[in-house]
Amino acid sequence: MERSVNVTVVYYSSTGTIHRIATEIAETAEKAGAEVRLVKAAELAPRTAVESRPAWAAHLEATEDVPHAQVDDVLWADAVIFGTPTRFGNMSAQLKQFIDTLGPAWFQGRLAGKVYSAFTSGGSTHGGMETTLVSIYNMVCHFGGIIVPPGLNENPYGTSHVLGSDSKPVSELALQSARVQSGRVVRVARALKEV
Ligand SMILES: Cc1cc2nc3c(=O)[nH]c(=O)nc-3n(C[C@H](O)[C@H](O)[C@H](O)COP(=O)(O)O)c2cc1C
Repeated sequence: MERSVNVTVVYYSSTGTIHRIATEIAETAEKAGAEVRLVKAAELAPRTAVESRPAWAAHLEATEDVPHAQVDDVLWADAVIFGTPTRFGNMSAQLKQFIDTLGPAWFQGRLAGKVYSAFTSGGSTHGGMETTLVSIYNMVCHFGGIIVPPGLNENPYGTSHVLGSDSKPVSELALQSARVQSGRVVRVARALKEV
């Protein structure tokens, strides 16, 4: 019988792109037999900033029911998959703020030995999506975690979607990549539980 695996998908999304990829990853992990928690990093931007973009305000309201990420969601997981929009070639402040709450758990060595993976989106093709993904993987080295990239896929660093000037919805290519990445994370986490 296959071992049960706990997967937590922690994401931040302003206008829904990353949320869409996060749900695909979560559903794929569930189909692969994992127990899954889909949680979001809390919004930190002032209300005036959120309201200045109707798509941002609408997405915040539409995802009200998604629970806020807690340290326990990471401690519970065998595998953690982080999702963030690219912000100046780096992760969003909202996701980083949540990750910084993991300090005490890190200090106690409780983040080590887990599988970690990451995905992102950006406005432009060469806008720094890979540096964003690597910024997450840098952190994982400090955790003592095991980095699992998607393998040979659309972007070998992690699922990525380019919105472009016309804010394209998440492409089938990116969703396919998300499914491959999620499936691989579950397989590796399961195999590690067996050793
Ligand atoms: C402050 C800010 C910085 C951004 N920096 C970048 C960037 O460096 N590279 C890029 O390609 N897109 C950049 N973008 C575009 C976002 O990455 C894009 O809107 C996001 O991926 C959409 O994801 P979401 O719908 O989940 O919020 C930036 C957007 C904002 C608001």
